[in-house]
Amino acid sequence: MPIQTTLSLAKKTLKPIDDEVQFIRSWIEKPLSTGAVMPSSKLLARTMARLVDPAVSGPVVELGPGTGPVTEALVAHGVDPARLVLVEFNPVFCRMLRSRYPEATVVQGDAYRLKHLLGSLLRDPAAAVVSGLPLFTKPLRTRLRLISDAFGLLRPQAPFIQFTYAVVSPIPRTLPGVHAHASERIWLNFPPAQVWVYRKD
Ligand SMILES: C[S@@+](CC[C@H](N)C(=O)[O-])C[C@H]1O[C@@H](n2cnc3c(N)ncnc32)[C@H](O)[C@@H]1O
Repeated sequence: MPIQTTLSLAKKTLKPIDDEVQFIRSWIEKPLSTGAVMPSSKLLARTMARLVDPAVSGPVVELGPGTGPVTEALVAHGVDPARLVLVEFNPVFCRMLRSRYPEATVVQGDAYRLKHLLGSLLRDPAAAVVSGLPLFTKPLRTRLRLISDAFGLLRPQAPFIQFTYAVVSPIPRTLPGVHAHASERIWLNFPPAQVWVYRKD
């Protein structure tokens, strides 16, 4: 086998391992804000990405992309990387995302300050907000402000998509004027997770 092919195969095989090592390191350093021991599985990432309609115009905002499993699934699902706005706290993950998705906009910052971070950056209403943030580490009022700010950036009826390891919705499902829907539990993930979609009625 030519050396180039061997190297490219090795790179492909090592990428997920490398991502996992970075992720575990981040979890050891900051367990609460990392919010998970491992990056999301391909199945969980695909389940989230499929809730985004690539035909709807506007930016697709991802909150807490980490090493990018959901980002990868969004691109595989047909979202142009140039439409992606990735908001991540961890500078190491930001560097990885910038090198993998040079066309995307990577914003290093606190996603809970969404209005402040993206209010003047987005020129058009967003087609979707996809979040991997560990919402349950935040008080309810912070979560409510986040979803309210996200709806302020989104097109009418566009989805706010969130995964959780919990068995209940991280945003109260009876929020006035908001329709909430949950996926089946995704067992092929560590830990098993569920995807919630919230839309303004
Ligand atoms: C549970 S991990 C999910 C990572 C990735 N989306 C996945 O599915 O594997 C949460 C991610 O959110 C990031 N994060 C946590 N708090 C954040 C904040 N306030 N602003 C931006 N990113 C944050 C963490 O650094 C981490 O990358």
